[in-house]
Amino acid sequence: MKILSATFVKSSSKLSQCPPPDKPEFAFIGRSNVGKSSLINLLVGNRNLAKISSKPGKTQTINHFEVNGKWYLVDLPGYGFATVSQATRADWSKMMENYFLKRENLYCVFVLVDCRLEPQASDLDFINWLGNNNMPITLIFTKTDKLKNNQLAQSVSRFKKKLKEVWDELPIIIQSSTKTKKGKIEILEIIDEALRNK
Ligand code: GTP
Ligand code: MG
Repeated sequence: MKILSATFVKSSSKLSQCPPPDKPEFAFIGRSNVGKSSLINLLVGNRNLAKISSKPGKTQTINHFEVNGKWYLVDLPGYGFATVSQATRADWSKMMENYFLKRENLYCVFVLVDCRLEPQASDLDFINWLGNNNMPITLIFTKTDKLKNNQLAQSVSRFKKKLKEVWDELPIIIQSSTKTKKGKIEILEIIDEALRNK
């Protein structure tokens, strides 16, 4: 799929502030610092569209980007950042629960997992919660440029094993890197197919 245009629409701190649900929408979620904003920039070929940072907790709101005038990419604030307060954590949970359960134009959720980490409870819990709520998900292992091929394969199979403890069927799994552009074509293909089947 060709990206002809990608523009920032708005930042929202709750569901009611989001743009009208009049276009198909694809959201990116995962732990803080996993690379959600960077991956959105890779997909649209613009390093400056979504704000990124080497420090976790950069994205704090629901950010809508309109692509080709036809669909939305949504950059979300991450979870699992150790130093945030209980109150902030509760606000995040409420915002995300509302967004995921009520956003009617949400076609697919891309859940990003850092390929370097052992399976994290926060990732598994979140994936299980989305699955239990019948959300179509695609799993993306990020930062694959940081591991050797055999380490990467081990890491992915460790994670799959954990998921198989709960799920009979696993989601589509993609590997990505903003350094090598790995995964870009596959992710755009998934979006393209979802748009064509609408
Ligand atoms: P929050 O907004 O805080 O939730 O983080 P985020 O998930 O949006 O992460 P962000 O895109 O801001 O990236 C975090 C850091 O990881 C930045 O320093 C990026 O340059 C780096 N990064 C992201 N993707 C990759 C990747 O594929 N490879 C490498 N080596 N670094 C990456
Ligand atoms: Mg971000």
